[in-house]
Amino acid sequence: TAGIMDKALITTINKLQDAFATVGIQNPVDLPQICVVGSQSSGKSSVLENIVGRDFLPRGTGIVTRRPLVLQLINRPATAKGTSKVDGGDDVNANTDEWGEFLHAPDKKFYDFNKIRDEIVRETDAKTGKNAGISPVPINLRIYSPNVLTLTLVDLPGLTKVPVGDQPKDIEKQIRDMVLKYITKPNAIILAVTAGNTDLANSDGLKLAREVDPEGTRTIGVLTKIDLMDQGTDVVDILAGRVIPLRLGYVPVVNRGQRDIERGKAISAALEYEREFFENHSSYRSKAQYCGTPFLARKLNMILMHHIRNTLPEIKAKIQAALVKYQAELASLGDSVLGNSSNMVLNCITEFCNEFRTVLDGNSQDLSSVEL
Ligand code: GDP
Ligand code: NA
Ligand code: MG
Repeated sequence: TAGIMDKALITTINKLQDAFATVGIQNPVDLPQICVVGSQSSGKSSVLENIVGRDFLPRGTGIVTRRPLVLQLINRPATAKGTSKVDGGDDVNANTDEWGEFLHAPDKKFYDFNKIRDEIVRETDAKTGKNAGISPVPINLRIYSPNVLTLTLVDLPGLTKVPVGDQPKDIEKQIRDMVLKYITKPNAIILAVTAGNTDLANSDGLKLAREVDPEGTRTIGVLTKIDLMDQGTDVVDILAGRVIPLRLGYVPVVNRGQRDIERGKAISAALEYEREFFENHSSYRSKAQYCGTPFLARKLNMILMHHIRNTLPEIKAKIQAALVKYQAELASLGDSVLGNSSNMVLNCITEFCNEFRTVLDGNSQDLSSVEL
């Protein structure tokens, strides 16, 4: 059920967390929140789902996401009991190593990801009514899995201008304020989603991203629906930075269409289709490695690793301070195990730093085009 997250990165972060646990420090790595912004139905929920690698978000035409969904992924090692299972489809043999929990229903574990989707829909309706209403009150969902990084993703309602149904007259401003609240945080990575078959110059997502990140240091452009573009048109000029340049660039993707969703197409099948699409398309063939969901994942991994690298000096200082404290405590007890335990911790950290460097170097070669 692995999503598109980098296995090596997950392993590395887990090692780091183990090292902290050893010295009794709360995990000091505060990973960025990944937020999607863009027009209604541009494909935001679809992109997030691909990142997680599971089917569980309500998607579809019209305003489907009507409350922010704060999705906390929590890495938890696999147990021997959990069965491995291919992604998507029925959850009859659900992997017991992966489950969801809602803040509003804390005693219930959801092993069936279809039921997670049902619960999001139910809880959305409960606070907003069924008639397209919106609410800024977030739904908080935690997903525990061995295949994710411990970080937070935020699915947000799409930017829209004209109120429908029970929507307030100032819907545009309300959604804007809702989205800004999340993407203004300096710790947010913004996925500015624009459908490839719409005009980039009119992209609401990009416009809003620029307001809070004018230097473009934390905005990635995501171009969806490349498969729906008119024959003979493509996004090559955008990718080359000739339309609206972004420092972190753009990634074109092909998500599941409405028909795929209705037919229950698995994420793995969708990723395979996406790969073939870019490899066989005359406009993208020569740069297929820079296209698609896996490349988006690598960009995200890269950003996360740079973030961790920048945090490492602070982490080291914290660990050293903790060691000094423990040494003092142990010395006052006249304990002789001191030497051994502090060596173990230092070994742990050193090993982590070495592995981290290896992972970072490996990815850097891949991503020479990513400026950070
Ligand atoms: P959101 O409103 O921005 O969250 O968009 P959704 O993820 O709900 O997608 C809106 C609709 O567009 C759904 O019917 C999706 O199946 C469809 N969709 C999203 N991305 C793509 C894509 O890359 N290709 C195709 N064909 N359809 C897509
Ligand atoms: Na939608
Ligand atoms: Mg959505």
